[in-house]
Amino acid sequence: MRLNIAVLPGDGIGPEISARGVEVMRAVCEKFGHEARYAYALCGADAIDRVGDPFPEETYRICREADAVLFSAVGDPRFDNDPTAKVRPEQGLLAMRKRLGLFANIRPVQTFKCLLHKSPLRAELVDGADFLCIRELTGGMYFGEKYQDNDTAYDTNRYTRPEIERILKVGFAYAMRRKRHLTVVDKANVLASSRLWRQIAREMAPAYPEVTTDYMYVDNAAMRMIQEPRFFDVLVTENTFGDILTDEGSCISGSMGLLPSASTGEGTPVFEPIHGSWPQAKGLNIANPLAQILSVAMLFEHFGLGEEGALIREAVDASLDAKVRTPEIQVEGGARYGTKEVGDWITAYIAAK
Ligand code: IPM
Ligand code: MG
Repeated sequence: MRLNIAVLPGDGIGPEISARGVEVMRAVCEKFGHEARYAYALCGADAIDRVGDPFPEETYRICREADAVLFSAVGDPRFDNDPTAKVRPEQGLLAMRKRLGLFANIRPVQTFKCLLHKSPLRAELVDGADFLCIRELTGGMYFGEKYQDNDTAYDTNRYTRPEIERILKVGFAYAMRRKRHLTVVDKANVLASSRLWRQIAREMAPAYPEVTTDYMYVDNAAMRMIQEPRFFDVLVTENTFGDILTDEGSCISGSMGLLPSASTGEGTPVFEPIHGSWPQAKGLNIANPLAQILSVAMLFEHFGLGEEGALIREAVDASLDAKVRTPEIQVEGGARYGTKEVGDWITAYIAAK
């Protein structure tokens, strides 16, 4: 297969983990005879510094023309601490999602047996937890009408029927491919937007008789996720709830640096780790590259290249078993491996297979 990949390293630890992702991708392409081309593009604070725009037109063009985007992270404390900043790195990410029409964000939450003890939850509780959060990504409060003056501010949580239908469809489709259990998460006891979600979900459910569909308020879902994470199979929810719940979900596995995601929809799909840019770790070679590397696995799988994805997952598992791990998940007294060394080990494993 020929693949044109737009690579957006972004800020903070972004460039370091991006390099590991690309290396792994090269190794897999070599092994399976695929031809991939990489076009690098600016985004985030880096793009603001260089061209004054967190998602420049040129980046949009490169993304639009690519088959997939390998994205790393954006964000910089210089902007977080400045309430007067007119542009922010995060706007680049939101612009990318919106302009590429990426309405479905798929965030798998998985556990790794050998890392169960790293979870803030008891190992016996998280063992075997394996669910998919499907987050609506281009609607709701993130993009609804906003207003702010000195005394009043609001964000509008607007959703239309087509927006809700298309994301629920994605939810049902994933549930059909998995354990056929879909949980629709909302706040229908309070919010009109949620009541519409629930109404539409109830209308659609009979078309998927094999799927057990249940409805859960978001506050309850937040609790259930840490009380009984194995309850969930596929969870679908709106943009803001999904943002919050997926950070919560990511803790279950023991490190934020482990979980990848895919954003899909109308335009070029984007594959990215769920963690942020961790500016304090920039250049220190300590960030975990696994979420980025697993994003590459999701990229291959998206194009139906299951064996390629499986080999990456096997290599990641092998690196964990061999205790080739970044500091935050290393065993006590274990050898020190940095971002680069973990990436190199995985690349070598793939090449040697
Ligand atoms: C995420 C992030 C983004 C979001 C930020 C960086 C704008 O938290 O992808 O979850 O809120 O969507
Ligand atoms: Mg988030």
